[in-house]
Amino acid sequence: MDFKSLLAQRTRKMEASAIREILKAVSRPGMLSLAGGIPAPESFPLEIIKELTSRVIEKYSSSAFQYDLSEGFSPLREALTGYLRKKGIRASGDEIFIASGSQGVLDALGKILVSRGDSIAVEAPTYLGAIQAFNSYEPVYARLDTDDDGIIPESLERVLESDRIKFIYLVPTFQNPTGRTIPLARRERIAGIIQKHNALLIEDDPYSALRYRGEDIPPIKVLAPENVVYVSTLSKVFAPGLRVGFFVAPQLIREWLVLAKQGVDLHTSTFNQALAAEYLLGGYLEEHLPKIIDIYRPKQEAMFHALEKYFPEGFKWSTPDGGMFIWAEGPAGIDMEGIYWRSIERKVAFVPGKFFFTRKGEGIETMRLNYTMADEEGIDRAVRTLSEVIKREL
Ligand SMILES: Cc1ncc(COP(=O)(O)O)c(C=O)c1O
Repeated sequence: MDFKSLLAQRTRKMEASAIREILKAVSRPGMLSLAGGIPAPESFPLEIIKELTSRVIEKYSSSAFQYDLSEGFSPLREALTGYLRKKGIRASGDEIFIASGSQGVLDALGKILVSRGDSIAVEAPTYLGAIQAFNSYEPVYARLDTDDDGIIPESLERVLESDRIKFIYLVPTFQNPTGRTIPLARRERIAGIIQKHNALLIEDDPYSALRYRGEDIPPIKVLAPENVVYVSTLSKVFAPGLRVGFFVAPQLIREWLVLAKQGVDLHTSTFNQALAAEYLLGGYLEEHLPKIIDIYRPKQEAMFHALEKYFPEGFKWSTPDGGMFIWAEGPAGIDMEGIYWRSIERKVAFVPGKFFFTRKGEGIETMRLNYTMADEEGIDRAVRTLSEVIKREL
């Protein structure tokens, strides 16, 4: 049977991602991977989860296993009010909705807002998973220029003046893939610009809790509450496999997102939401987060150290205060996909940066390096090997 002929027009846009194909090599035995984007398994609070499991059954009994509201499990929504207040976001439990990971929110936003040919403004480079989620709804992308401090406000202003933009999608803190953070003054400019243009911003914030040094910076949601859908997740501070994400959005958007969710999965796992509620309410997150940070900080420092020690002249890299990624850029003309294949032969993997751009031909000389999965010795060895491959290529 010709299944291909059955495909909806939009499904054809969900072409097998090139990055998935090339990253198949990462799972070969003995590979030292700086390619992943996932938390270290040793960061999961397994003992706490054991305790929470009994507590949830005692406290919520069968209701932890029953169908529940699409908006989310009420105790978790209440618990998140305190979590968000610490970030400066004032929202009542009724205004916080739960999703099956923040990825699901990105897809739902695409579903309710994007018709074929609509423009979405994204950073260059941006989070690949967002592009994949939005692509099913057949948008076109407007490109926002960036520098070491994230998007350049003038570029946002230009795009909003010249294009009809459905929404802007940003990861302002410890961005995936670059690790960059937009400083406060620039966030204020961005908030002013979106308010002036009546524009909607999706602020995706999975990483801000993973801060290894420096002061927290308020989300753009705090600066322009009516113009921002704030999306976040417990994936990086609890466990990603539980699939608990959440968002705070203007009322109408919230209501449409719930309608979309009802058609997809009715609601996020009640039991997992109850675990998350107790994780927050019992003060476990406060106890465990410093341990996660203590796992990642030395790994990040090991990578900075190795880059300084081994990487050739002409390379530069981001120096984020948190998150999971470092972005490195080589001299013009160097092809990181070629370097990728040669470094795979030497059993070291990373992600060539070009996959994070919506325009073909951009980011050829860039790479994303992750430091959460390897140990410090492995990070040193991987960066040294990678440098040898690069030097040979140069
Ligand atoms: C920027 C960004 N947004 C969203 C997600 C999805 O996270 P989750 O669906 O686990 O909440 C990720 C995951 O790595 C991410 O890096």
